[in-house]
Amino acid sequence: MPAAAAIWRNLAAAATFALLVATAAAYTNHTVGGEPGWFFNATANTSSANFSDWAASQTFGLGDYLIFITNTNQTVIQTFNLTTYDACNADDASDDDTFEYNGGNAAFGERLTIPVPLTHEGLNYFFSDTDDGVQCVNGMRFAVDVKHGAGLPPSLSQPPPPPYTSPPQSPPVTIYNPSANRALRTSASMHQAACVLSLLALVLLF
Ligand SMILES: *[C@@H]1O[C@H](CO)[C@@H](O)[C@H](O)[C@H]1NC(C)=O
Ligand SMILES: *[C@@H]1O[C@H](CO)[C@@H](O)[C@H](O)[C@H]1NC(C)=O
Ligand SMILES: *[C@@H]1O[C@H](CO)[C@@H](O)[C@H](O)[C@H]1NC(C)=O
Ligand SMILES: *[C@@H]1O[C@H](CO)[C@@H](O)[C@H](O)[C@H]1NC(C)=O
Ligand SMILES: *[C@@H]1O[C@H](CO)[C@@H](O)[C@H](O)[C@H]1NC(C)=O
Ligand SMILES: *[C@@H]1O[C@H](CO)[C@@H](O)[C@H](O)[C@H]1NC(C)=O
Repeated sequence: MPAAAAIWRNLAAAATFALLVATAAAYTNHTVGGEPGWFFNATANTSSANFSDWAASQTFGLGDYLIFITNTNQTVIQTFNLTTYDACNADDASDDDTFEYNGGNAAFGERLTIPVPLTHEGLNYFFSDTDDGVQCVNGMRFAVDVKHGAGLPPSLSQPPPPPYTSPPQSPPVTIYNPSANRALRTSASMHQAACVLSLLALVLLF
């Protein structure tokens, strides 16, 4: 292979690799609280981690996920309303600014993994509203400041595509277009004429 071609090929490979690395590094999954997870010990009245300290140790960007490792003894409430957050109570909260995530039909006490995508730039508040706010008051709450980062990936910024509907069934229709056929024939005979002419030219030259 010529040296220049080899260099270009290596450059292209390096660029592709850099792009892959950048894409992979653009979004982070943050396990809330780290190893101890999102748990409350009702006997000790304490949270499994200091979530404010944990949140302060991380950098959050749009498209990142918070991964709550928990069970049904805790809830995951996300709110953009500071009043709701300070009150540790989502009972009167509006559906527009407060969301509850649950991990499906897990049995009581069963381990759950709840992924929450970060789709709002700025302050996002999280808490558990179990035990009339006792968990929240005793540490089950934190705020994250979401930066723009790499921006929302298409998978989170676009509404899901509309459901697929199959096109209506109709018998196939063949349309006969005589002028199109004539045009084809004309160009074919012109091609033949051109061939004959170039052959003639060759014969004349030699
Ligand atoms: C982050 O979590 C989401 C949701 O569970 C998942 O789809 C994605 O693959 C995870 N990304 C990484 C890099 O682990
Ligand atoms: C909860 O706290 C009590 C008292 O501190 C302790 O004995 C118990 O092991 C803790 N439970 C868990 C699951 O950590
Ligand atoms: C926050 O929620 C409370 C109800 O819980 C509501 O009265 C208030 O208007 C909300 N604040 C904002 C800024 O939407
Ligand atoms: C869930 O909470 C109840 C009551 O607070 C407690 O008895 C139970 O051990 C907890 N289960 C787990 C798995 O933490
Ligand atoms: C836990 O703390 C709350 C106050 O936040 C208190 O009312 C409750 O009695 C405490 N429970 C235990 C088991 O210490
Ligand atoms: C978390 O740690 C900070 C100090 O780093 C402390 O001020 C705060 O009270 C702690 N929060 C809880 C719930 O223990």
